[in-house]
Formats: sequence, C-alpha cells, structure tokens
Amino acid sequence: MFPKIITFCCNWCAYPGADLAGISRFLYPVNTRVIRVMCTGRVDPALVLEAFISGADGVMVMGCHPDECHYRHGNIEAERRMKLLQYLFERYGLDAERLRIEWIAASEGRKFAEVTAEFVERVSEIGALQADAMEILGVMRDMFYGERLRLALGAANRALSGGADVAKYEAALKRIAVEEFNKYRLLKMLKREKELSTKAAAERLGLSLRETFDYFIELKREGVVDEGEMGEDRYILYRLVR
Ligand code: FES
Repeated sequence: MFPKIITFCCNWCAYPGADLAGISRFLYPVNTRVIRVMCTGRVDPALVLEAFISGADGVMVMGCHPDECHYRHGNIEAERRMKLLQYLFERYGLDAERLRIEWIAASEGRKFAEVTAEFVERVSEIGALQADAMEILGVMRDMFYGERLRLALGAANRALSGGADVAKYEAALKRIAVEEFNKYRLLKMLKREKELSTKAAAERLGLSLRETFDYFIELKREGVVDEGEMGEDRYILYRLVR
C-alpha cells in the first residue's frame, strides 16, 4: 500500500523543520503532502476530516513544542482537538493511529523526517480505509461544522482560564461529541430514508428507544424534523422538515 498522508505544519516550527529536512537531505517517504498553517490552533477538526474524505489515509499535525506556541496555546488547543478526534475514531471503529500530533522545532529536521517515515509505515500497516468509513467520517465532519460542538470547543479558553477543571471539560466535550454524532447520524439516515420510526432508528443506531426518542424530540424542538403517521411497527414516523 502507498498511503496518502496530509501533514499540517505550523509556519514557525514544523514547516521550517520540514524545510531543514529537505536542505539537509534527510530521506523520508514521498507519500506526504505538507499544508502550512500559521499555528496548529488553526487546524479545525472538520479540515482533518475533509482530508480523510478527500482520500488521505492518515493525518498528522505538527506544531511548536509546549510553551513555544507563537499564539500562546494554539498547540494545546490542537492537541485537545486531535485527542477528541482520536477518541471518536476509536469509538466508531476507525483506527485512531491514523491521527498523530507531534511537536517539531525549526531545528528538528531529522525528527521531522523520522516521525514522517514512522507514521507512513504505521498507516501502511493499518491499510486503506474501508468504504463504510466514509459515512462515519462524513457524519463527524458535519457535526464539527455544527454549532453546538464549535461552541463547546471555542469555550475552552474561557472555561479553563476561569478555573474550570480540565478533565471535566474534556469529559463534557466527549459527551457532547457523542450526542452530536448520534444526532447527525440520525439526520443522515432520515435524508436517505425520508421517514423513520423511533424503533427503526434505534435499531440501526444501536441506541435505546429512550435515547433515540430524545434525539427526535430535540430535532423536533429545533424545527428540523416533524412527526408523521403511525408506522407499521406502531411507532410514530419522523421526517425532515427541511
Ligand atoms: Fe506553532 Fe502555535 S505557533 S503551534
């Protein structure tokens, strides 16, 4: 396998590190395409998912070492986002080792080459993404473009500088991400099937009737779905409003 790797590199550290690797003629696989960003804090999880949907087999984010970010804590935000993505990958059956975050200084050309080679090898071993992974990746991407998760991620500075507990904040992020994932998956199914009963949706999502019903009620409150007739399974059918 010849894996395709996308590497997001911070302008101030990893990108010059990649440059140095080239100038120093350190060998590393040609599978990787580098995308320069001003700070890893600019790497939105939705962009990472877009990379996979566009054909990448692995995505790396390389930034300044802790305490050296030019924008104070962009690298810490990036790390939190990548960890959240890794958690979701693991939970929904995609290999979390397709994602990696590394700290590379401008002087660490050799490290850039070594980490890249190691990552390419690991992704080669994991193999290509299965066709059904695309649906999961699409749902994740949509939810990261959604308002609720963006607000929760964007609240990190305020919450943590205001003294919030990091572990509690990160646990809340995971809970919100899982809820959003279920909701967006339900929406995707509704788009395809036109209408679904609570029972049918619960079976397909692997959730309880109660949980599924709560998602329908929330979507109804948001004005996204509406109730229809009684289905053959004697549960109310829901359909998209828009
Ligand atoms: Fe390099 Fe923020 S400036 S990670």
